Amino acid sequence: MPRIFFIGDIVGRPGRDIITNHLSALREAYQVDLAVANGENAAGGSGITGSIAAQLLKAGVDGITLGDHCWDQKEWAAEIDHYEQVCRPANFPRAQPGRSSLVLDGPDGFRLGIVTVLGRQYMKVHTEDPFACADRMLAELETQGVAHVLVEIHAEATSEKVAMGWHLDGRAIGVIGTHTHIPTADLKVLPQGSAYQTDVGMTGPYRSVLGRDVNAVLGKFRDGMPRRFPVAEQDVKLCGCILDFDPEAGRVLAVEQVIYPLPAVVEDP
Ligand SMILES: [Fe+2]
Ligand SMILES: [Fe+2]
Repeated sequence: MPRIFFIGDIVGRPGRDIITNHLSALREAYQVDLAVANGENAAGGSGITGSIAAQLLKAGVDGITLGDHCWDQKEWAAEIDHYEQVCRPANFPRAQPGRSSLVLDGPDGFRLGIVTVLGRQYMKVHTEDPFACADRMLAELETQGVAHVLVEIHAEATSEKVAMGWHLDGRAIGVIGTHTHIPTADLKVLPQGSAYQTDVGMTGPYRSVLGRDVNAVLGKFRDGMPRRFPVAEQDVKLCGCILDFDPEAGRVLAVEQVIYPLPAVVEDP
């Protein structure tokens, strides 16, 4: 039975380093068949580059997804099409470069489709309706013979993410949330067999505000002055979820949240 590991937003060097240093051991320990990771914050917290994508793929990530920070690095728009294992959000305008889905080969002929859609609530990015886009992408992939698709909902509002779970229950193998960088306690299998989690959490430094330096973000909230938000460095965790999908039953049989390493205690440096 294919076991899929979905890993949340990799943030900066700390996020890349924990992937490089620990993903292969985690893959082994959990007997993972396919690992997918969101890389939208991998380059200094904002976007991704070709060399970073290559580094993540070499470290054991099979497919990289992106989000609203997709184009933060200037050169990436010219590079993305060279990376067959990277896709950008499917509901960006069609004229944008990059793939709108991935198909990954798993064990015993299993093929996994990957699609990311961006939410529209409180997001400042120009996008198509994510619900209609997810429907269209599932239909497109099905015509290519890809029946099993994991949909990532990269969104700010929990309501929009939960709604997407219900919208796709029984049609996507999972609806997995990213973007808000904090793991939520609602990983489950929905009634029609799709895995669901509102947010898997980021892979990066948790002694931070969503991956950024505490004093910088706190200062901006308090005085409103613009400033740089350096990526934080401490309490680095790799976060994601694991799903066991049974192709014959057409449903996810088991899910497991991964927060590595535990315990989730913030220690003084
Ligand atoms: Fe993110
Ligand atoms: Fe995001």
